Amino acid sequence: MGKALEGVRVLDMTHVQSGPSCTQILAWLGADVVKLEAPGGDITRKQLRDLPDVDSLYFTMLNCNKRSITLNMKSEEGKRIFTDLLPRFDILAENFGPGAIDRMGFTWDRLQEINPRLIFASIKGFGDGPYTHFKAYEVVAQAMGGSMSTTGFADGPPLATGAQIGDSGTGIHTVAGILAALYQREHTGRGQRVTVAMQHAVLNLARVKLRDQQRLTHGPLKEYPNKEFGDTVPRSGNASGGGQPGWAVKCAPGGPNDYIYVIVQPVGWEPITKLIGRPELAEDPEWSTPEARLNKLDKMFQLIEDWSIDHGKWEVLAKLNAQNIPCGPILSTKEIIEDESLAANDMVVKVEHPERGQFSTVGCPIKLSDSPVDVERSPLLGEHNEEVYARELGLGEQLAGLKAKGVI
Ligand code: COA
Repeated sequence: MGKALEGVRVLDMTHVQSGPSCTQILAWLGADVVKLEAPGGDITRKQLRDLPDVDSLYFTMLNCNKRSITLNMKSEEGKRIFTDLLPRFDILAENFGPGAIDRMGFTWDRLQEINPRLIFASIKGFGDGPYTHFKAYEVVAQAMGGSMSTTGFADGPPLATGAQIGDSGTGIHTVAGILAALYQREHTGRGQRVTVAMQHAVLNLARVKLRDQQRLTHGPLKEYPNKEFGDTVPRSGNASGGGQPGWAVKCAPGGPNDYIYVIVQPVGWEPITKLIGRPELAEDPEWSTPEARLNKLDKMFQLIEDWSIDHGKWEVLAKLNAQNIPCGPILSTKEIIEDESLAANDMVVKVEHPERGQFSTVGCPIKLSDSPVDVERSPLLGEHNEEVYARELGLGEQLAGLKAKGVI
């Protein structure tokens, strides 16, 4: 079966996480993604290594289904080769520090001159303004995009979330931008610039917190468990803060992830009262309506926890779901990597690598009925130099010399 992006070619100059997470999705959707690395390779090949002299999991889990070429963009020959490569690609993607591509000699004007159909996608930390020239990493974006100030408990410090919303979150926004630009090019014949700032992507994901910032001007946020409100949205622990209250309650045997997140919809209250052995609360006017419960959500979840603490989270999951009550056990990373249903959904996938052997990675969450994803291993550094430079650019006889001079 063909793939959705068959025939689309991506010259991938991305590194670390945000950019590679974007181009990996494009590769999974069927694009030919050629990762262009400095002769020393993407820094993450060597970061957080679990095995000596073998590409790290950091690299292998973010660069599947790509090919790898090396090219020294600071050498004159490197720049010439790059200029020859560009017209053969639809998309150039990068996430270097601000100005790096310009300093290589390839401004947007120059890129358009070389290939007017090129879509040039860049990820940076920030948009135009006072931070434009600043570098950024995951948690910097979480800090400045509204996530950290709203994550954690009111009496504790701001917290980073484990989900990489700044990096992979920006990557997926960039995928959307690239696909839209490809579609527009069908009509205009022209490429365009796609830019996504990590701060902006996190803010987009923290949208509801700005909803609440504006609601706050009309009084306290009743759905929040907090007792006091200032002029900014407070950290609200595990409260959903949304239309339906939720909380993480403890389960047996009391380990760090023996919790289940329970949401109490209006229709869920009666079955919950029966489950927890307090059926009288279904009719009690102090408890029977969502409004009556709003000022004592902490007590409500304590009642549920008094019951759940004696049951394992999987048992609680089964009992609550039998009553159609939305809930989710807190799954540890170990439970996730061993989860049979995630494996059956190709979301935890085993991949063979020639140097590290078998490893597990996270599969593609976007499922297309006519474009199945086959997760293939990440490339070794420069593994496809010959394939690309010799076969496509006819540089076969020069390869050894280019290597000796440090151009590739
Ligand atoms: N050949 C020669 N040089 C190359 C090259 C190649 N193929 N590819 C990259 N380089 C050089 C660049 O020219 C640049 O050099 P210069 O600064 O002298 O111009 C350098 O390598 C890369 O710089 P930079 O991207 O700033 O690396 P860094 O390690 O100092 O910073 C980040 C890393 C992530 C902080 C920075 O890239 C950044 O802010 N990126 C944008 C935001 C982002 O994506 N962050 C999330 C990362 S998960």
